[in-house]
Amino acid sequence: PRTGAPVEYDTRAGMWHVYGYHEAQQVVGDPATYSSDTMRVIPKHLLPSPDELSLEGFLTQIDPPEHGKLRKLVSSAFTRKVVADLEPRIAEVAHELLDAAADRGRFELVTDLAYPLPVIVIAELLGVPAGDRALFKKWADALFQRDAEFAIKETGRPDAELQAAIEPWKEMRDYLQAHVTERREAPRADLITRLVQAEVDGRRLPDAQVVNFAMLLLLAGHITTTMLLGNTVLCLDAFPDQQERVRADRSLIPAVIEESLRYLTPFAALARSTVREVELGGVTIPADQLVMVWLAWANRDPLQFADPHVFDLGRDPNPHLAFGRGIHFCLGAPLARLEGRVALDILLDRRKELRSDPDDPVEFIPTPSMTGVRRLPL
Ligand code: HEM
Repeated sequence: PRTGAPVEYDTRAGMWHVYGYHEAQQVVGDPATYSSDTMRVIPKHLLPSPDELSLEGFLTQIDPPEHGKLRKLVSSAFTRKVVADLEPRIAEVAHELLDAAADRGRFELVTDLAYPLPVIVIAELLGVPAGDRALFKKWADALFQRDAEFAIKETGRPDAELQAAIEPWKEMRDYLQAHVTERREAPRADLITRLVQAEVDGRRLPDAQVVNFAMLLLLAGHITTTMLLGNTVLCLDAFPDQQERVRADRSLIPAVIEESLRYLTPFAALARSTVREVELGGVTIPADQLVMVWLAWANRDPLQFADPHVFDLGRDPNPHLAFGRGIHFCLGAPLARLEGRVALDILLDRRKELRSDPDDPVEFIPTPSMTGVRRLPL
């Protein structure tokens, strides 16, 4: 819908859309009113039964006080230092991928760099074989595809479809469970081992939680960064003056990444559910409603950003909401930023121009809540 109001009800889908920056901040800043547990408002017949697959307990889906305890535990293993130490390896992998592409004599950004780079990095960090990445891609594609269909479905769906939708989850869970079991017996120097051993206030993570978090990292850790890299090149292609600017002054690289996150926000929307009736942006939302927070719209709100539809490296500060805000603020933001900066620096070094190929069209991911390219020939 989009009538210009900051908050709207969508009669067709039976949910609320939040577009305003101020209103988006209000929603993500108030987890007591807007719960991250959205499953509770989705009709039960649309969900797998708990013995088929439990979707409970994902960090992104839980509320205080459990959220804080779990986040503290996983952050004790996935620290800023762990991420910062990855910098030389990120650069090495990026060079290897670009060398391989140069040998092939053509360059398609997503296949040659933006997809494999973050997958290899997250797989090595977790400690699962990067060689299994065809599997990860299969799962991620299936899950994101299903999510999209699921989100726009208004009525029930046949059992067979539901079964097909949970199959990739099960496969991924079993795969990671096998790794967790192995690390309990034979610890290694990897993130799965650190998660297995993590202890805060005498509390440890049960296997199911380590598996859940590893699944989240494997999924969140690559699709999003792939989108960030693709979007960044797309922005510099569309705004050549800004490309010139960063070529002349590499200290602007972090500004390119932040402005790319604002201008083409990878996770365009977040979901919340109201636990009580609440006023927002001049309307009253009843309890137990699904609320979609459109970060991509908030990041182009003219009340917050001057000339919001212009890609401008001069925005300082740039308080975009691409990583969310508040207690669920993206735990992988330091990694995504590091990968973005390292990859862009290397691309600027190795290519005189970052230009899309006028004869070979760009393809976007067809999911409305995701903004990114799946094919970008240069
Ligand atoms: C949470 C975006 C990369 C792991 C989030 C949230 C957003 C987001 C918007 C908040 C979700 C909510 O409030 O409901 C992004 C974007 C990325 C990115 C745009 C890349 C450009 C990553 C990476 C990782 C990661 C690389 C891990 C390796 C997580 C985790 C959470 C999260 C674990 C859940 C935090 C919590 O619920 O407390 N991300 N993310 N993300 N992200 Fe990212």
